[in-house]
Amino acid sequence: MFKIVEWKKNTVVMIDQRILPAKEVYLVLKDYKAVAKAIKEMVVRGAPAIGVSAAMGFALGALKVKTKEKKVLKRELKKITRVLAATRPTAVNLFWALERMNGVVESNADLTVEELKKRLVDEANTIHDEDIEINRAIGRNGAKLLKKNSTVLTHCNAGALATAGYGTALGVIRGAIEAGKNVKVFADETRPFMQGTRLTAWELKKDNIDVTLITDNMAGHMMSKGLIDAVVVGADRIASNGDVANKIGTYMVAVLAKEHKIPFYVAAPLSTIDMKIKDGTGIPIEERDTKEVTHWNGKRVAPAGINVLNPAFDVTPGRLVAGIVTEKGVATRPYRTAIKRLFSK
Ligand code: MRU
Repeated sequence: MFKIVEWKKNTVVMIDQRILPAKEVYLVLKDYKAVAKAIKEMVVRGAPAIGVSAAMGFALGALKVKTKEKKVLKRELKKITRVLAATRPTAVNLFWALERMNGVVESNADLTVEELKKRLVDEANTIHDEDIEINRAIGRNGAKLLKKNSTVLTHCNAGALATAGYGTALGVIRGAIEAGKNVKVFADETRPFMQGTRLTAWELKKDNIDVTLITDNMAGHMMSKGLIDAVVVGADRIASNGDVANKIGTYMVAVLAKEHKIPFYVAAPLSTIDMKIKDGTGIPIEERDTKEVTHWNGKRVAPAGINVLNPAFDVTPGRLVAGIVTEKGVATRPYRTAIKRLFSK
């Protein structure tokens, strides 16, 4: 089985998702700046995987600070936090992980510099291992929502590759299959970065899960033909009222699902829910290089000088979401109270 992000002999090793499925190449990152660059350039992507990588980058940064003075280490960690936090703005798991790592620094004032460094490495590995367990729980909780025979549409890649392993949306599919259900998948290609074509199709095929690739503009047609029983997607940030930011195009799929009376589910860990944000309007949306839209395989396909927009995410209002599947259970509308209840479990 492939590894997504791993701590190995004081380096961070990642599969390079930019070149999948053509090649399975692992990059060995030796300092936190390399980890920040890898997140920014999408060597690693997907909200939980970004969080795990940031935690490992933080630990790597700490290891490389040459000092015996706690004060110096803490000052450097502030800088490291700033650099890692500036990589991608939408997935809240990035900020969640950095906050958790900084929390370890604050709550271990009695440790020496060397002890603290070791503690930070342990914490990053714990975040990694916990993520897989959380995804398995999401899988078990979500599996119950799918019928014995169902075809699920998914958008982007919320699979093993987007996490430490197993996946969130694809975790629900894996969980249902493990529970003996017959689940088939339709994967949207997910323009412009093609996470569906390159990543979802690759990892599901590798697992022998029945997957059919479609272009984004085919989803409505497939629904109107009665070929889709449920939609399951991941999330990059969920506001406290249940509004969901996920890969651009998700909103369009949710509206189509509503029209066709198909349940639209979101699978995400609690670390993706941002209780500080009251609704979707407060979620920062990353704008990416317009070349992702104007170019194909490195070649310009749009006329030079054309106006282009490239928001990487959109917000689906909670009213279109049939359920938010988390490790603590499934929240349903009204989300404000349901989400609070999950956090108190
Ligand atoms: O730009 P990406 O590839 O990082 O976007 C990923 C997504 O939108 C995923 O659906 C989301 O992070 C959930 S991953 C379990």
